[in-house]
Amino acid sequence: MSLKQAATAVRENAHAPYSNFKVGAAIRAGSGTIYSGCNVENVAYPEGTCAEAGAIAAMVAAGETELDEVYVIADAPMPVSPCGGCRQKLAEFGADHVPVIMGTVDGQEQVMTLGELLPGAFNTDHIQGR
Ligand code: THU
Repeated sequence: MSLKQAATAVRENAHAPYSNFKVGAAIRAGSGTIYSGCNVENVAYPEGTCAEAGAIAAMVAAGETELDEVYVIADAPMPVSPCGGCRQKLAEFGADHVPVIMGTVDGQEQVMTLGELLPGAFNTDHIQGR
């Protein structure tokens, strides 16, 4: 299964009754295995989680901590880019050169690297010596 297929399939399981905006995310990890996640909203709105966070949690739960490629898909008029918090979460496990493919269900795609999405990221250099 391709990364796009995995993101498209998991998007169907999104729990998004409040926004009606289903998102699917798939990550190719260092081993080549694909992990996927969808957004999971909550009636207490801030408790909802993004698709990317779900995919990252699945990857880490399986014992992997390196991500090599990301695909995010939604039914939107233009490719959906990860929110600020998810950019930071992705940068925890992915290098600057990692491609993030942003897709729409009608077939649009835009590719940016993690470094382009989160320039000047807060990283381990900033907490040296602790
Ligand atoms: N959302 C994601 O899951 N990923 C993104 O990259 C953008 C936004 C979700 C959060 C919320 O459940 C819904 O989309 C509307 O913001």
